[in-house]
Amino acid sequence: MEIQQADFKGSFPKVQLIPKDGRPEFAFIGRSNVGKSSLINLLTDRKELAHTSGRPGKTQSLNYYLINNVWYLVDLPGYGYAKVAKSIRKQFGKMIEDYILKSESLGCLFVLIDGNIPVQKLDIDFVNWLGENGIPFCLIFTKTDRQTPPLIEANMQTVKDALLEHWNELPPVFVSSAAKRVGREEILAYISQVVSEITIE
Ligand code: GTP
Ligand code: MG
Repeated sequence: MEIQQADFKGSFPKVQLIPKDGRPEFAFIGRSNVGKSSLINLLTDRKELAHTSGRPGKTQSLNYYLINNVWYLVDLPGYGYAKVAKSIRKQFGKMIEDYILKSESLGCLFVLIDGNIPVQKLDIDFVNWLGENGIPFCLIFTKTDRQTPPLIEANMQTVKDALLEHWNELPPVFVSSAAKRVGREEILAYISQVVSEITIE
């Protein structure tokens, strides 16, 4: 897919305020600092479309980018820098919970997981919760330029094994590196496929 247009449409502090024009949405979520905003800049090939930062917690609201006037790319706030609490709402934040459960146009939620570290309970809890709620999602292992391929592969396997304890099958899995421009074609091809499926229905 060629990205001809990528327009910032707004930064919404509440789900009640997001665009409701029926265009399919592809949202990016994951731990704070995992590389969501950097990946969005890679996908759109715009260096500073989404704001990135070395400090966790840079993205605080629901940021909408309209792509080719057809679909929205949504940059979500990170989770996991607040203290771990028991309820999903406290663990991941009300805004994230509301968005995921109430968004009517979610084509796919891309869950970003740092490929440089072994499985983290918070990510598994989050993905299990998505599965329980029937949310369409994919996994993207990020920052894969930072370690050797066998180490990344081993880390990915720890995540897959943890998920296979609860589920019979895995969602689509992608690897990315914003630094080395890895994963762009594959992720855009997947989005393009989902967009055409939604449009045909
Ligand atoms: P929050 O909005 O705070 O939740 O963070 P985020 O997930 O949007 O992360 P962001 O894209 O701002 O990136 C965080 C840090 O990781 C920045 O310093 C980026 O330069 C760095 N980073 C992101 N992607 C990559 C990557 O693929 N490779 C490497 N080496 N660094 C990356
Ligand atoms: Mg961000």
